[in-house]
Amino acid sequence: MPGKTFYIETFGCQMNAHDSEKVVGTLLAEGYTQVATPEEAHLVLYNTCSIRDKAEQKVFSRLQQFKREAGKGKLFGVLGCVAQQEGEKIFERAPHVTLVAGSASYTKLPQLLVQLEAGNRRVTGLSLDTDETFDTPFTRRDNPHRAYITIIEGCDKSCAYCVVPFTRGPERSRTGESVMAEARRLAEQGYTEIQLLGQNVNSYRDPSAAGWDFATLLARVAEIPGIRRVRYTTSHPRDFVRAIVEAMDANPVLCDHVHLPVQSGSSRVLAAMDRLYTRDQYLERIELLKTARRRYSITTDIIVGFPGETEEDFERTLDLLDKVQYDSLFSFKYSPRPNTAALSMPDRVPEEEKQRRLAILQEKQRAIQIRRNAELIGEVREVLVEGRNVPLGQWIGRTSDNRTLNFTHSETEGLVGRYLDVRVTRSGPNSLVGEAVV
Ligand code: SAH
Ligand code: SF4
Ligand code: F3S
Repeated sequence: MPGKTFYIETFGCQMNAHDSEKVVGTLLAEGYTQVATPEEAHLVLYNTCSIRDKAEQKVFSRLQQFKREAGKGKLFGVLGCVAQQEGEKIFERAPHVTLVAGSASYTKLPQLLVQLEAGNRRVTGLSLDTDETFDTPFTRRDNPHRAYITIIEGCDKSCAYCVVPFTRGPERSRTGESVMAEARRLAEQGYTEIQLLGQNVNSYRDPSAAGWDFATLLARVAEIPGIRRVRYTTSHPRDFVRAIVEAMDANPVLCDHVHLPVQSGSSRVLAAMDRLYTRDQYLERIELLKTARRRYSITTDIIVGFPGETEEDFERTLDLLDKVQYDSLFSFKYSPRPNTAALSMPDRVPEEEKQRRLAILQEKQRAIQIRRNAELIGEVREVLVEGRNVPLGQWIGRTSDNRTLNFTHSETEGLVGRYLDVRVTRSGPNSLVGEAVV
């Protein structure tokens, strides 16, 4: 068995992806080497997601594959949201797991690793009572051009369906100074795009005397020399205020895209979900964007089949799609989650009905996207080149408004990381095709 090698697989949202970058950096600094398969690794880590039941099941099916490795010296760690949610119960369910640690404990990883290597077979890092510093000197980023920065951890909302407040704990904002220092350092290292992360970035509040709100932070990060694009995710509609749109309007470095999860188009369901806004209040936020100086693409998340959702409620959601004309949406069947308020709500929607609503919703949105994307044919958009699709002979680019725009160019190498103008020539439901403007 080779010593000090590790393998990590990551599930879930961008916050988890970024957490894994921190974990990888920490392990490398501790002298571990990363390997590409769990078979080769001495330490196998799963950074897990618990947002829906399916996501949670994934880690247990992965662990199941290695049940026979128990006692052979290979170490298994469960990190992230399932770890925080299930805690020590994971040791019972998968006895070969030796480490269970939630996202608030990654700064303590070096100590946890020492315990593991010393032979402790039930090592835990589960405290949410964190004195987290957000400073991540070891972060090993996956992408050399686009970097994530955590600005706020946890969530103080209590949406009736959601595990996040339990898996990531209460809201903690990072100081503006610390965010700026990391962003400047990244700019110096050649990163040109920054994505500010949090479960609810809009409720960011600088805990230092400066007391910046989110709009101020956005404006400041966008002024850093060398940074060409700034994105952020996720916004909660309740806290999405005019000042944010004004900051975006004032500086095109702040990308032409807002992800504003609505969850439902019915005020009745929104109240049951405890989302803290009505349909009309949500539409007022959308109006802020539609009447702004720039054209912003708007995307959302929707849950179908929340307990008590009637056909009429669902139709309100379909009607909302017509009204808003989203550029893209993520849609989910409601999944009952442990600890959440919705778990005990009556009038569960049957699985087949959820599936039916999901299909109708997705079909409707597909038609909207086909139409909206077709409107862009003939326009020129700047893309950040993200990669190359060799079989198709195309480069893969991303526009400021977060569309994938694949394009042809006379060069066949060396464009990744560059910003180029591309004319859109064709469109589909999920992407655009074009030619570089030379
Ligand atoms: N903090 C973000 C999103 C968190 S989770 C926000 O407030 O919007 C990402 C998405 O997963 C949510 O927007 C929601 O649409 C979906 N989701 C969360 N819990 C879910 C559940 N129990 N069942 C189905 N979808 C869920
Ligand atoms: Fe979950 Fe609601 Fe918090 Fe988003 S705002 S993380 S959906 S509780
Ligand atoms: Fe999943 Fe945790 Fe993110 S539950 S969506 S990984 S915050």
